[in-house]
Amino acid sequence: MKENINTDRLPKHIAIIMDGNGRWAKQKGLLRAIGHENGTKSVRETVESCAELGIENLTLYAFSTENWNRPKLEVDTLMKLLVSSLKKEIKTLQDNNIKLNAIGNLTSLPKKVFKELHEVIAKTEKNTRMTLTLALSYGSREELISAVKEISDKVKNNIISSENIDESVINKHLYTQNLPDVDLLIRTSGEQRISNFLLWQIAYAELYFTDVLWPDFTRQHLYDAIIDYQKRERRFGKTSEQLS
Ligand code: FPP
Repeated sequence: MKENINTDRLPKHIAIIMDGNGRWAKQKGLLRAIGHENGTKSVRETVESCAELGIENLTLYAFSTENWNRPKLEVDTLMKLLVSSLKKEIKTLQDNNIKLNAIGNLTSLPKKVFKELHEVIAKTEKNTRMTLTLALSYGSREELISAVKEISDKVKNNIISSENIDESVINKHLYTQNLPDVDLLIRTSGEQRISNFLLWQIAYAELYFTDVLWPDFTRQHLYDAIIDYQKRERRFGKTSEQLS
């Protein structure tokens, strides 16, 4: 299947809403925590496969602002998993020349997570093969509100004038400032919604929904999504004729 991927037309930025850990566990009569634990295996396989293929940017929705409303035990489990995954995977990131990045309201994360995250971000800062961005305590509306506030302050202090506000100004004030727009957005588990994820950045993304639950998501499923993406005509508002 990998041979069916055209490496000259890879999406530059893949974003994934990793969904279905809880249902996966429930189907097997296991605790939700075990679902999340198995979800980390899919994270590993997906990161590895993307890097191997030559994807430059991968962004994973690991924890939304709304996820804070889950039972405390589940939130604690997810935070613990994050710390342990970061500790365990730092070597893999280094060996594979992958840079870690994080977006979201990071100061609301528990101190331990914040510290570990920043350590790995600092250690991998110079890596160039792929940028892996974790969306943590992330909400797109919150990101937009924070951008609007920063831009308004700059207008008030005459740093920028309102006439000069354009897409690039907005882009620079988002958490994703250095990342290109998303080309391919994947959501697992059969749900077909965006759930407050990268609303601005997915304006022209191709959307791909699969029924596979996140812990079952393998490199084969990733290849399927990329092959499907490559079959689509991305017109960006133009006509087919204009493109050819
Ligand atoms: C969605 O499943 C998944 C999450 C809320 C968290 C994703 C986290 C991981 C895959 C593990 C840790 C991440 C990293 C980056 C190491 P759900 O709980 O919403 O599933 P459900 O909809 O079936 O209940």
